[in-house]
Amino acid sequence: MRALTIGRRAVCAGLASLPLARPSLAAGAEPLIARKATVQLAPDGYPASEVWAYDGQLPGPLIRARQGARLTRRLQNDLEVPTSVHWHGIRIDNAMDGVAGLTQDPVAPGGSFDYDFTLPDAGTYWYHAHTNSMEQVARGLSGPLVVDEPEAPDVDRDEILMLGDWLLDPESGGFMEPMAHPMMMSHGGRIGNLVGVNGRYDYTLTARKHERLRLRLINSANARIFVLRLQGMSGWTVALDGMPLTRPEVVEAEIVLAPAQRVDLIVDVTAGEGAPAGLLMLRDDDSWEALVDVTISGRSARTVRGAPAALPANPKMDLPDLDGARALTMAMEGGAMAGMESAMFEGERLGFRELVERGQFWSLAGQVGRSDTPFASLSRGEPVRLSLTNRTVFPHAMHLHGMHFREVLPDGGLGPMRDTILSLPQEPLEIAFVADNPGKWLFHCHMLGHAASGMTSWIGVA
Ligand code: C2O
Ligand code: CU
Repeated sequence: MRALTIGRRAVCAGLASLPLARPSLAAGAEPLIARKATVQLAPDGYPASEVWAYDGQLPGPLIRARQGARLTRRLQNDLEVPTSVHWHGIRIDNAMDGVAGLTQDPVAPGGSFDYDFTLPDAGTYWYHAHTNSMEQVARGLSGPLVVDEPEAPDVDRDEILMLGDWLLDPESGGFMEPMAHPMMMSHGGRIGNLVGVNGRYDYTLTARKHERLRLRLINSANARIFVLRLQGMSGWTVALDGMPLTRPEVVEAEIVLAPAQRVDLIVDVTAGEGAPAGLLMLRDDDSWEALVDVTISGRSARTVRGAPAALPANPKMDLPDLDGARALTMAMEGGAMAGMESAMFEGERLGFRELVERGQFWSLAGQVGRSDTPFASLSRGEPVRLSLTNRTVFPHAMHLHGMHFREVLPDGGLGPMRDTILSLPQEPLEIAFVADNPGKWLFHCHMLGHAASGMTSWIGVA
């Protein structure tokens, strides 16, 4: 109840601030329909799966626009449950952020909601359900969102690779129930038994030797951290979580992609015809398995190319001023094998046992789940440094809505801009950002079962 009140207040505040002359959505605003569909996820011979998906496609349709463009979509909810859409990584107007209960009311079954915002940054983003997202994203409600630079980089092709996994019941083809599984929520989250790319467990590409590709990797999995390696290709990282690096960085080691993170690579195909090439993933038994097979046939005429140029910077990528920054600390606690003494939940202090009985396992700064009051109230334009202490025995993919941040490196320098960062158990981590986007912004773990069982907090920017 309380959450809904916050939601209504947020929506009213949003409406009040709309300029009167704001153009309304054209009658024919393009719909995005959340609905049930039947999709063959598992290999042939296994039953098909009933999924919840945008426009009935898994992943949802590619939404692609130019930097600076206005994006409008009418979410139409043809599901039997309320839903909403979050545009992950877009530095968006708060009223369009899609967080049910915080920035909007959930869209009831049969209802619709008009999303309408501009896209300030070029890069690789994604959209996904943000109402009971632990379940709704697991059932398929996510899709890629690409914002094109005014001038495309010099590559032969641009490929979107949306990585994901699904936890299926092999007998029925349906999603393994229950969705809110205490064992999974208190451990590493919901990890699928089928891994795939762009909705397929056997996704393949073909390429020519010496071809230069831009690969846009998006981790849309509920909880899986992908550890990846290139085979028969070599190249550079050019952007993280949508934001261009100042300088392309040679891919030397494994690529670690936590839930919700993206990486843009520019790679050259080095393998010859018939030689193995592709994207490999590290399995639990430490072996490498092809996640995307690339079949090489033919060769490109352009053989010698230098390192790619950096992608053009996005606006507002200035380094936060650490000296004058407000310093905040947040302990991350809970989960199996570590637990916590006690924490606040719905206005009450509860011990770990009592929290577990309520299906809650995690806390951020002593608070379980979203409270009425924000973790921090910031003034607009204020530089902030937030130090995170992970007292759990699990990694967590911490995501801030509405603003990108940088890691404060041990030497005091600042890392690249991101919207999601992996916090490792017992390792200190500090991030810094400028609170330049007014509104109510979630800060939560993107292992969605963790977020649903306590690891969700929010900040206010006045
Ligand atoms: Cu991609 Cu709050 O989420
Ligand atoms: Cu987590």
